[in-house]
Amino acid sequence: MKGTPAMSYLLHIDSSALGAASVSRQVALSFRDQWQGPVVHRDLAANPVPHLNAAGVTARDTDPARHTPEQAKAAAVQDELIEEFLGAGAYLFTVPMYNLSMPSVFKAWLDQIIIVDRTLNLSGPAPTAGRPAVLISARGGGYGPGTPKHGLDFVVPTLEAVLGQLLGLTVTTVIPELTMAPHAPALASLLPLHKASMDAAHEQARHLATTFATTRAA
Ligand SMILES: Cc1cc2nc3c(=O)[nH]c(=O)nc-3n(C[C@H](O)[C@H](O)[C@H](O)COP(=O)(O)O)c2cc1C
Repeated sequence: MKGTPAMSYLLHIDSSALGAASVSRQVALSFRDQWQGPVVHRDLAANPVPHLNAAGVTARDTDPARHTPEQAKAAAVQDELIEEFLGAGAYLFTVPMYNLSMPSVFKAWLDQIIIVDRTLNLSGPAPTAGRPAVLISARGGGYGPGTPKHGLDFVVPTLEAVLGQLLGLTVTTVIPELTMAPHAPALASLLPLHKASMDAAHEQARHLATTFATTRAA
């Protein structure tokens, strides 16, 4: 596949604060059940990356030989995350909706890895352009067309822009929604819609893993 490293792996990144109870993580496991190749897994809830700080920003435009100890430390964090990101041939991201947006641990990871001339090319395609990615984003409510909350999802459109436009990944989104329905009596009438959404999400995740595998073999 064009632009994919020879010995590549699936980079699986989780960001839900919940462990096994996370719906996003459960749907990701359906993908993983069908995925045959090597995987590098990073759990941002268990092991959060630091927020980008001044040393991390200024290190980017400073000769490494002149880095302060703080800049050297910040640059080492970025180097490790970027090497891991660039080495992948495919991506699996679980990013649930928190307060209409993404969990801050995932934003922190994005801010560490998106660097001009390393992962971002201002005059052409990014080095990861065309690589497949699946984005699984569970949410308690429903934000689809025709719902009262339509237009208030600032996770998926934002990440389709960042992962798809900036980083060039070919992103497919899986949205298990209405996950609050089993937990809130007031939402009981939405249970059938929730169940249908869950079934569709797991099925879509399993199917995507097989299409990713076909792309890798091509
Ligand atoms: C801190 C926090 C904020 C949340 N904010 C929203 C929200 O704005 N809209 C919504 O529909 N659900 C919201 N939820 C519900 C989650 O999106 C829902 O529980 C989802 O299943 C979480 O994904 P996970 O199961 O993969 O952890 C929030 C949950 C948490 C913990």
